[in-house]
Amino acid sequence: MRDETIPTIHRGIAGMQHQSAVWRAAGLKSALVPTMGALHEGHLDLVRTASAAADRVVVSIFVNPTQFAPTEDFAAYPREEAADLAKLAALGVDAVFAPTIAEMYPDGYATRIVVDGPARGLESDSRPHFFGGVATVVAKLFISCAPDIAIFGEKDYQQLLVVRRMGADLGLPVDVVGFPTVRAADGLALSSRNAYLSPEERSVAPRLHAALQAAAAAIRAGKPPVPDALAAAERDLDDAGFAVDYVALRNADTLAEVSDPRAGPLRLLAAARLGRTRLIDNIAV
Ligand code: PAF
Repeated sequence: MRDETIPTIHRGIAGMQHQSAVWRAAGLKSALVPTMGALHEGHLDLVRTASAAADRVVVSIFVNPTQFAPTEDFAAYPREEAADLAKLAALGVDAVFAPTIAEMYPDGYATRIVVDGPARGLESDSRPHFFGGVATVVAKLFISCAPDIAIFGEKDYQQLLVVRRMGADLGLPVDVVGFPTVRAADGLALSSRNAYLSPEERSVAPRLHAALQAAAAAIRAGKPPVPDALAAAERDLDDAGFAVDYVALRNADTLAEVSDPRAGPLRLLAAARLGRTRLIDNIAV
């Protein structure tokens, strides 16, 4: 990365690919941080990690329509490109890949990646379109930016595993790296969608992380039994005013369902709505 300076903005795939080829020819290693913009401190930590791991850093900013259902918040999703660019300039990011929708999905576009394995269940139960859209756009981002490594936040844990699986399955030469969730002081995982929370909802939102921590402690202690620990977390969340989509214990590497909680590694994952905002979170057990 360079010192504070305006990053080069690429709106087209060919220009981005050329930039990446120039770096590679010069023996420079590059890292990609894929985002949908509205950058918060969690994203900026991913960028700092990228700059420690590589010689050049690219941040992509693209609100990807194919991962939103028609009923979801694609139109309302926060778009703050000028503010995002200023934050990235302050971190010395080398390039920003901010393609147009027509560049990513030209007229007649007809290709979509189908995902299975870690994409099964959890988020897919309420958002069946989501991981196909994510896998497709991330494959396109990998092809456009041709990074050596790509860094994803663990807040979207299922997404991280789906992307890692997709990269391995398609033989894309990108090392997919997960970065621990960045939290506010009260435990709420940072997310661009937290901007939707009213002040009252914002004060309740950290209960999601607290419920996961309590359930993880119970599972570690071996009592009550796992189903009861998960049910208690759901009850806590219901009482706090959340509408729970799931609280689930899964294998941390595959997201397969767990029959014996002593056979780790384990991950506890949850999704719940607070008013019109859907929050997700997860922790290691
Ligand atoms: O996590 C996100 O912001 C998005 O799902 C991603 C990975 C940038 C793909 O659009």
